[in-house]
Amino acid sequence: MDISNSNYDNRHVATLDDPDEIHRVMRAQCPVEHSSQHGGFWALTRYAEVEPATRDTARFSSLPTITLPSVGAPRPFIPMESDPPEHAKYRSLLNVVFSARRFAELEGEIRKHAVELVERFAGAGEADLARDLAFPLTSRVITWLLGIPDEDVARFNEWSLGLVSVGSPEEGLALQMEIRDYYIGHIAARRANPTGDLASHLLASTIDDRPVDEEEVLDIYLSLTGAGGETTAAAANHIFTLLDRHPELREQLLAHPELMTSALEEFLRYVTPVPGFARTTTCPVEVAGTVIPEGERVWMSWLSANRDEAVFERPSEIVLDRKPNRHLAFGAGVHRCPGAPLARLELRIMVEEVLARIPDYRLVDPTSVRISEGQTRVIRTLPIIFTPQR
Ligand code: HEM
Repeated sequence: MDISNSNYDNRHVATLDDPDEIHRVMRAQCPVEHSSQHGGFWALTRYAEVEPATRDTARFSSLPTITLPSVGAPRPFIPMESDPPEHAKYRSLLNVVFSARRFAELEGEIRKHAVELVERFAGAGEADLARDLAFPLTSRVITWLLGIPDEDVARFNEWSLGLVSVGSPEEGLALQMEIRDYYIGHIAARRANPTGDLASHLLASTIDDRPVDEEEVLDIYLSLTGAGGETTAAAANHIFTLLDRHPELREQLLAHPELMTSALEEFLRYVTPVPGFARTTTCPVEVAGTVIPEGERVWMSWLSANRDEAVFERPSEIVLDRKPNRHLAFGAGVHRCPGAPLARLELRIMVEEVLARIPDYRLVDPTSVRISEGQTRVIRTLPIIFTPQR
């Protein structure tokens, strides 16, 4: 592999699919690497630089966009693409969604829905864990958070599957416009008749002593849709794949369910479903002896930092009781993922219900598991077979 040509592509399938070698070489030889891809950017790959830079919102801004290459969204993703002090204002608007109380209220519903989904296929001896469990469950959770009426949930589920399956960029864009139009209708309906759901709450809130406007509510709805569903589904699909690839881990979890909490953290570290996001320097910044000029795009490789041998012993192994485990799968600092407790809850429930009901599942074709290019390390389909349950 030749990385001296600085053609490192943070989004290339090879980087996402097999992140070990390329990042190990970069951490050792060039931890602040300039790449000519995507209009030119800098990649930080060592934990020692990635973690503080992620926290340093003054010098590493989340504006104008954290996507690299830019997805070209017409408006910013809120609250991700905002900096302090505005960021805190948006974040506090979302407290109502991201409260421990709200998550506790959802736990029973999530468990019930997960059991329903697994029982739908448990008697068949075959299923697709991505399409029959991970995507429907995680998108259902988003519909609860966003207050989508029950009669529209099936449509919403179709969209979420569509978003990860679409072939061409045009199809993807068309689907995004459909979702956007749906949300515009939903927000207008809540403006006319508030119901107490998230849109009603946001429309009744103020920011800088002015009412939150409908565009901002739309921004937040689109952000939560993107941030919450695909990420958690990706994590689940990777975990199911790893439990197939490493039967000893599955045995360990079945024999020691008390390991689940630390095991989930370890899976999140190892998988890092969101491999990184970009920042833009607000001034010249010296990082590990290299000066990055002002206005440059900088990629925070959480995927690489989470495999950094300087921080994690045996980083390429999955150690279910790893402690400490200060991984960066949920980012760090003020933008750290507010959905982390919810994602952990969903993952725990999915893994527990699969292990309880179809403990001997196997992937139909382990070699066919593909990780797609994108903001998230998505696995789109995961066909399995197992002993049918009566
Ligand atoms: C395993 C699943 C998940 C992973 C790996 C993940 C990862 C991340 C990461 C790395 C960030 C930081 C972005 C940055 O610093 O630029 C983030 C932010 C965020 N996540 Fe998650 N996330 C997950 C699940 C969720 C869920 C379930 C929700 C909510 C429904 C959610 C909502 C958000 C929001 C709103 C932000 C922006 C926070 C801010 O900018 O202040 N995430 N997530």
